[in-house]
Amino acid sequence: MSKTVLVSGGAGFIGSHVTVELSQAGYDVVIADNMSNCDETNYKGVCAILGKTLPLIKMDFCDEAAVKALFAKYRFDALIHFAAFKAVGESVAEPLMYYKNNLDSFLNILQAAREHGTNVLFSSSATVYGEPDETPVTEQSPRKPATSPYGNTKQMCEDFLRDCVAAYGMHGIALCYFNPIGAHPSALIGELPRGVPNNLVPFITQTAIGKRECLSIFGNDYPTPDGTCLRDYIDIVDLAKAHVCAVTRMVEGKMDEPYEIFNIGTGRPVSVLELVNSFQKVNALKLNYRFAPRREGDVTAVWADPSLAEKKLGWKATRTVEETLASAWAWEKRLAGK
Ligand code: UFG
Repeated sequence: MSKTVLVSGGAGFIGSHVTVELSQAGYDVVIADNMSNCDETNYKGVCAILGKTLPLIKMDFCDEAAVKALFAKYRFDALIHFAAFKAVGESVAEPLMYYKNNLDSFLNILQAAREHGTNVLFSSSATVYGEPDETPVTEQSPRKPATSPYGNTKQMCEDFLRDCVAAYGMHGIALCYFNPIGAHPSALIGELPRGVPNNLVPFITQTAIGKRECLSIFGNDYPTPDGTCLRDYIDIVDLAKAHVCAVTRMVEGKMDEPYEIFNIGTGRPVSVLELVNSFQKVNALKLNYRFAPRREGDVTAVWADPSLAEKKLGWKATRTVEETLASAWAWEKRLAGK
């Protein structure tokens, strides 16, 4: 009998790609999303890729009664929790909104998971490592004090899961993503930022399509080879596949410890300027960009040591940054009807 996985925030960027990979791996997926940060574009894209309609429950995970009702209706073997606010700058301006939403929702989920014996996969972020003392970052690298309420919610939710696993005999995995970019090769699902994008790749694609005038590269005086920041850009489909490996590890009872953390990245540092140049080259276009002052809160260099994920999850990033940047551009063009 196939296993059922709940994907909270499954209509969003990462959630939609994970839903596709889970479903193609044979899992039944139930999507639940309050649609606060997305429309149905990605949900429709998911159904088009899969050639079937998946259940989409429109609900807010801060609503305890709604969460209870969801778990009463379905029997989930595992859940993946994506539903959260994710804008770093907004979290600094509106900390209460971030704490209330991101913590309440996860507490309700953990309560339900405890009652129903559901395996929990939490979507965490490299933001928990802050400005690392050493690169690449391993799972043993110390977590630094969070530099934003958003980052703080990621650290706190990791701790909630760790403590619940220890106390209630549950099983949980936290996946720490580095910088997820790109889109599904079908160009039917991808990133849909609301308003002006904060993240680099959507800003690049929107500049290339003419929606934004010019990309600002924030800082070219960092102590890096070309002066711009170094990041670990991970292809969204590669990232999604890591979730399938982690869910399978949990539902098949293959975990070494009841709570595990894995870094999900490529292990390959790429500078902002290198990324911009690769985008121009692979898509044969010229991007309007200029150097601008550093952005407050940016770390100089952070990239993953993904060897634990390879060893334990049997997962490894496979796509080149060029392939990923081509997929991001194909998605932007499709959105523009070009
Ligand atoms: N950048 C620019 N111009 C832009 C946008 C970004 O030069 O218009 C640069 C940034 O300064 C940074 C790099 O591109 O050097 C990547 O920036 P992103 O905003 O795309 O990604 P971050 O590394 O800042 O953010 C990621 C995740 C967040 C997470 C954060 C903390 O997207 O969710 O890491 O590590 F919180």
